[in-house]
Amino acid sequence: MTVIDHNLTPEALDAFWMPFTANRDFRAHPRFIVAADGMYYTDSNGHRTLDGSAGLWCVNAGHKRQQINDAIAAQLEQLDFAHSFNSGHPLAFEFASRLIQHFPDPLNHVFFTNSGSESVDTALKIALACQKVRGEGSRTRLIGREKGYHGMGFGGLSVSGLVKNRNQFGPLLPGADHLRHTHDIKRNAFSRGLPPHGMELADDLQRLVDLHGADTIAAVIVEPVGGAGGVHLPPEGYLKRLREICDANGILLIFDEVITGFGRIGASCAANRFGVVPDMITTAKGITNATVPMGGVLVSDAIYDSFMSESAAGVELFHGYTYSGHPLACAAGLATLDIYESEGLFTRGLELNDHWMDSALALAELPNVIDVRCMGLICAVEMAPREGAPMQRGAEASKRCYESGVWLRNIGDILVSSPPLIISAEEISLIFNTMREAILVTG
Ligand SMILES: Cc1ncc(COP(=O)(O)O)c(C=O)c1O
Repeated sequence: MTVIDHNLTPEALDAFWMPFTANRDFRAHPRFIVAADGMYYTDSNGHRTLDGSAGLWCVNAGHKRQQINDAIAAQLEQLDFAHSFNSGHPLAFEFASRLIQHFPDPLNHVFFTNSGSESVDTALKIALACQKVRGEGSRTRLIGREKGYHGMGFGGLSVSGLVKNRNQFGPLLPGADHLRHTHDIKRNAFSRGLPPHGMELADDLQRLVDLHGADTIAAVIVEPVGGAGGVHLPPEGYLKRLREICDANGILLIFDEVITGFGRIGASCAANRFGVVPDMITTAKGITNATVPMGGVLVSDAIYDSFMSESAAGVELFHGYTYSGHPLACAAGLATLDIYESEGLFTRGLELNDHWMDSALALAELPNVIDVRCMGLICAVEMAPREGAPMQRGAEASKRCYESGVWLRNIGDILVSSPPLIISAEEISLIFNTMREAILVTG
């Protein structure tokens, strides 16, 4: 592999303000990714690493899929852009019709966005507008959950529960509130699959109903499996119980499936895997295998019909984006779905589940490992923080993994993995053997 020298000056390194990055540290020790193929990345030193994170939980079909690249290139030749404001191009309708087949009935309508953050804000706005169009305009509260991550728009941030993400940005949306989180190492450490304890935490929604009044609450949003907050699986029965409380109180339930959509936990979506059907599902990331930015909100018949039958003539929802349903994204999405379907990738996480969980849980014996959470093709290995130096252990272990040829992210002292779904059993072993060595060495 040729080492690519881009001759980046210090000014060029300052020109790009990197997201969620310690920019000053990066500038001191820059590391550039220059190529990707299948399961692997290559950096500018020619160092190859197995992509243990599927990019950022998004390259589910693996890198550089020719079929997707060809579809994007062909679409560029045919129609580079057409907007969807009182106008239309066929591909957006074709893609929406294909997409809904992979989500539970009655989620039969898609509102296209360009990212997970936009999908979340769109779903929250649809929830508020839906309550209003139904004559329930007093329902203006939005409920999220502690430790939740719902992107960085003001709506998503308001219902998110990660303090570092929130506390630079003022009071956020008024009226947002939060369920208690479900992270419970004392009772659930090293659970194989869903944690057995904690279903009663869903009753926290009843507490908020009793506190605020059901007629003030528009919607509840949760990640069915928490991702960016450190990978948290729902306790057995928890999601079903949330659904019941929502139903009893006229509250809309939104699953944020930006990570869990498109095969991450062994089904097309978590709603299908867990057999709990929300009123809306937010998606992004794997929708186009991350080749062209796109997101989408799957919306139920009941919500869609409320707008179509109850709103005044004309535009039913004053919301949308220039690039909603962008032709290139739709072409990429259709080709991505072709791959997911023909290669059976949505259920690959089920087929590999035992090997994945055996390999992950085997790390339980290591010093400093205090929990392992895993299912499908997602996993978190949580280490105890070093005294007086939280997050250091995680950062060192992740760096060590990279040097040894596996790229894994750390969220504080938690090492997380969510590889492309095309991963082989041998590559799974490689990920966990590399983690083992890194944890032992970093001590
Ligand atoms: C559950 C969830 N929702 C929303 C988002 C935001 O997506 P994006 O970064 O595409 O805006 C993410 C991103 O990781 C996510 O994990």
